[in-house]
Amino acid sequence: MSSANQLLLEAKNVTKYFGTITALENVNLKIHAGECLGVVGDNGAGKTTLMKVLSGLYKPSAGSLHFEGKEKVLESPRDSQNLGLEMVYQDLALAGNLPIGENIFLGREPTTNLGLLKFLDYKKIKELTEAHLGKLKINVKSADQKVEELSGGQRQAVAIARSTAFNAKVVIMDEPTAALAIKEVGKVLDLINSLKKNWRRRNCDQS
Ligand SMILES: Nc1ncnc2c1ncn2[C@@H]1O[C@H](COP(=O)(O)OP(=O)(O)O)[C@@H](O)[C@H]1O
Ligand SMILES: [Mg+2]
Repeated sequence: MSSANQLLLEAKNVTKYFGTITALENVNLKIHAGECLGVVGDNGAGKTTLMKVLSGLYKPSAGSLHFEGKEKVLESPRDSQNLGLEMVYQDLALAGNLPIGENIFLGREPTTNLGLLKFLDYKKIKELTEAHLGKLKINVKSADQKVEELSGGQRQAVAIARSTAFNAKVVIMDEPTAALAIKEVGKVLDLINSLKKNWRRRNCDQS
């Protein structure tokens, strides 16, 4: 369990070159448990590159990453997921033709066994999805609704729900409000605040 103010993720002197382009130069960053940190910069400043380095999609050209005080070399996003870090990419990477529930559990679906055969447990996916969306106060008609039928804000909410369905310690979002109408921006910001509140309730409330 993480306690408040515990240092979760640290980047030390992270530098990233793409050929002759220096996208990041000696970036230092600390993220503590229960903290909401915004990274602000102009187009081309290197925000996306930094997030992709933190999530293991890009390897830094120099510098190091530390999770809970230990240096980690990430070979892929799967490595960062195993450490409890989830990334919501700017393009969301959702499968439009699949229902919300299957998007949330994509690649990590609960299964049932029948002899040697494994099957996706659709009933469980639906139950877990409804409980998780409810906890985050995300309103959709049904967990069975296809993602392509949702608004931009609802899609963003589904992508955030996916990133928080596996007890992540750190959730990184790349421009989560860039493609949204003003009304939907407010909802996504509320959702980020409720993630923080849920986290505090789980980890800090003694009562
Ligand atoms: N895959 C890539 N290959 C080459 N150059 C890239 C790549 N990704 C980003 N860059 C360059 O790195 C710089 C930072 O880009 P980016 O991280 O996307 O900035 P931001 O997200 O802040 O707009 C830019 O000059 C961009 O052109
Ligand atoms: Mg970007």
